[in-house]
Order: sequence, then C-alpha cells, then structure tokens
Amino acid sequence: MTAELICFERACRARYAITEVLYNCPKCGGLLEAVYEGAVPDAGQMKKTWRERRMSNAPLDQSGVWRYREFFPFLDDYRHVVTLREGNTPVLDAPVAAAYAGLKRIAFKHQGFNPTGSFKDNGMTCGAAQAMRLGMKRVACVSTGNTSASMAAYASAAGMQPVIFIPHGNISYGKLAQALEYGARTLQVEANFDQILALVRVLAERLGIYLLNSINPFRIEGQKSIMVELMDQRDWRVPDWIVLPGGNLGNTSAFGKALREMKEWGLIDRLPRLAVIQAEGSAPFYEFLHKGAGAVFTPVEHPKTLATAIKIGDPVSWPKALLEVTTTGGLVEKVSEQEIADAKAQIGLCGIGCEPASAATLAGIRKLVSAGAIDGEADVVAVLTGNVLKDPDYIYHYHTGQLKGPDGAGIRATFGNQPVVVPNDAERIAALLGA
Ligand code: F0G
Repeated sequence: MTAELICFERACRARYAITEVLYNCPKCGGLLEAVYEGAVPDAGQMKKTWRERRMSNAPLDQSGVWRYREFFPFLDDYRHVVTLREGNTPVLDAPVAAAYAGLKRIAFKHQGFNPTGSFKDNGMTCGAAQAMRLGMKRVACVSTGNTSASMAAYASAAGMQPVIFIPHGNISYGKLAQALEYGARTLQVEANFDQILALVRVLAERLGIYLLNSINPFRIEGQKSIMVELMDQRDWRVPDWIVLPGGNLGNTSAFGKALREMKEWGLIDRLPRLAVIQAEGSAPFYEFLHKGAGAVFTPVEHPKTLATAIKIGDPVSWPKALLEVTTTGGLVEKVSEQEIADAKAQIGLCGIGCEPASAATLAGIRKLVSAGAIDGEADVVAVLTGNVLKDPDYIYHYHTGQLKGPDGAGIRATFGNQPVVVPNDAERIAALLGA
C-alpha cells in the first residue's frame, strides 16, 4: 500500500508526501492524517500472521505495536524502528470495579504496563521511527508528563537528543523523574500546556527539531495498535463500549481511526461506541458537545484538575475526536475530582491501580450507567492510560485524608487506607490485628 499525508479538513484534503516534515496543512492549517491506498490485505491472513508473530523472538514481532505493522504501513525501512517491546498490555477483568460502576462486568485494557508506564509508548515508537527515517537529530514535545517520559526514553534509545517542555510545577514527580533519568534536556516553562504548545511549535520550526506531540500523525498511527491489540486479545469480538479519558484528544482520534479502518479492512464487523471522559475543570470537549448544534469550540483558559495528565484547555485534536465520537454513536462525559479519586481507589482495590487521569474512565462509566446511558449488562472495556506509580503523592494524600482539590477544597478519603504507626512490640501488634 502507498502512504501519504492528507489534510483532515473535508473542504481541503490537500495531499503531501509521507516524508514531508509537517504537523498542520500548509494550505489551510488543518490537522494531517496518514492515509493508505492500494489493495487491502486479506483480513483472515492478517489475523493469522499477527497471532503467529507472538511466538517469534524477532524484536519487531515482540513489539505489541510493530507486530501489527501492516495496519500502519508508513515506513519503507524497518531498520529505523526502535522498540522497547511496547504494547503487549493485558486486558484485565475487574469485578470490584464492575460492581462499583453498576455493571455486570468490566475489563480494563491497561496501558500502564508499557515500558515507560503509559499508552504514549504505543505512539512514540512510531513517531521516533519516522524521526529516524527523516534523519532528525533532536526531537521535542510539550507534555503533561507521560509524553515527555516516553519521548525521552525512545529518543535516547534511538540516539537522538530529547528536548522536553513541561508546565512548571504541574507534572507529577514520577513523570519528571523519568524524563531526567532518560536523559532529556528538560525545560520547565512558567506557562500552561496550551501556551507551551504554541511556543514549542515556533521553536521546532526555528531550530529544526522534530515535534513529537500528538499532532504528529505518526504518533496517532502507533496508538491505533491499542485497539488492534485489544480486538486480537478478544478474538475480534467487538465490545459495546470503549471508554477512555480525554485530554488533548489524540488518543480518541487514534482509537476512532483504528476502529473505522479495522471495519473497512474486514477485521471487525461493527463499531463499538466511544465514551470520552474529561475532568470537570478541564472539559472543553464536553462543554462543546453539550452546547448543541452550531456551537463554537471554546477552549478553557485556566484548566484545573488534580489529574494533571488531562489538564488541557485547548485540545488540538478536537476536530478529529468529534468525527470519531459521532461516527461511533459515542458520547462525552465529565466527572468531578471527588469522583475521580474514589474511582481510582476502587481500581486499586481490584489489585490493578492506575494514575488519576485513567480513573476518570471508571468514574465516567459509573455516572453513565446511573443515568441509563450505558446498560448494566453492556460489554464495556475501559482503557487505563497510565501506571499507578506515576503519581504516588496523589495516592498518599488521598488515603491519609490530605488530598485537596485544585480550588483548595478537601477531597474525602471515601475509601481511605491509613497506614498505622506501631511500636516494635509483638503483643501490641497482635492485639491490633485481632489475634
Ligand atoms: N491519560 C494519561 C495518563 C495521559 O498522560 C494523557 C495525556 C491522557 C490520558 C489523555 O490523552 O491527550 O490523547 O486525550 N497526556 C499527554 C502528555 C497530554 O503530555 O503526556 P489525550
């Protein structure tokens, strides 16, 4: 199949070579997407090949992204690939969380099992491969933490210099620590995510640094693998709902594109519905969709949430996400800080755990089930986007009743679990444990 970059705007649809260094359409400013043309591979053969590759020891086949490489054939030479064996993330049943949400059952596709602990690795291995193919020496991103951790790891593994820009004081230490350890040139900017993205776009152009934010269409191609791997793991049985948190909305657009293309390729027979969950204080996509027809997209100027991963007021990928939510008959919900914190503790009680942004999924599902928008019998998969260890401060503060919302109001430790200080005394400890 041949690969090209095409402007996403229906009125434009300008085409560019796959090797052009572009993030937006030079003609109209629209988002770009990778499009493939030519004979579609046989679906049955693809399913067989992808399954067989799980037995292989070849690095490309061991990657839970590149195993599915026929599904995003933008590279001409796989020697450009750097893999840390990303993907390969489990689908976990979680009865405790299901009961909490009012569902008969729920499964979590846990992207926190990735090499740097988030779904960003699925996209980053593709973005880094494209950077290598283009001969780039430096790569950059603005990030709420996970993208920068991932980019730092993949760039360093590939021998490129990672340069990261983060909103000062607004990312968790787990994520910042990863970037430092993976050797990123780390700039903490006194501005929010949206402001820094505008800054980084200017600097990337000026300094010839390749931009690896999710406006980069190759990141989106890689994140499609999350949906393909999920369907492969379910023997291609399509769930009723796929639920994910929404920040910059890159993942929503990647999931939707993957699902549409899987249907076009004959890999699945119908589309699941996408439900995107945002944090109440950072919910421009929710507000836009609930304003009704003819509404104008209005960014949130000062986004607020303790789920810092999704603290984004002006998500760049909203036009793509809108198409995907609409095409799948999906919906968008918002949840409060208290709802996120409690849902997160419930995911923890399943022995699974995740970071705050990921827990917005369960909080949103609970709300949607109680409103009757999701049926209690439905087959629901929630995507947990980040690892529990990404933000330990949040966890400690919640369980000890010290967590405060972005406006300073206390968050109840509804499912708190206080550690207890005890003397070095077997009798007293035995008494305390009731033995
Ligand atoms: N969950 C986690 C853990 C994230 O890190 C992000 C985004 C999202 C959800 C939202 O995904 O932006 O595709 O809608 N983190 C980005 C970053 C913005 O810089 O790491 P999205």
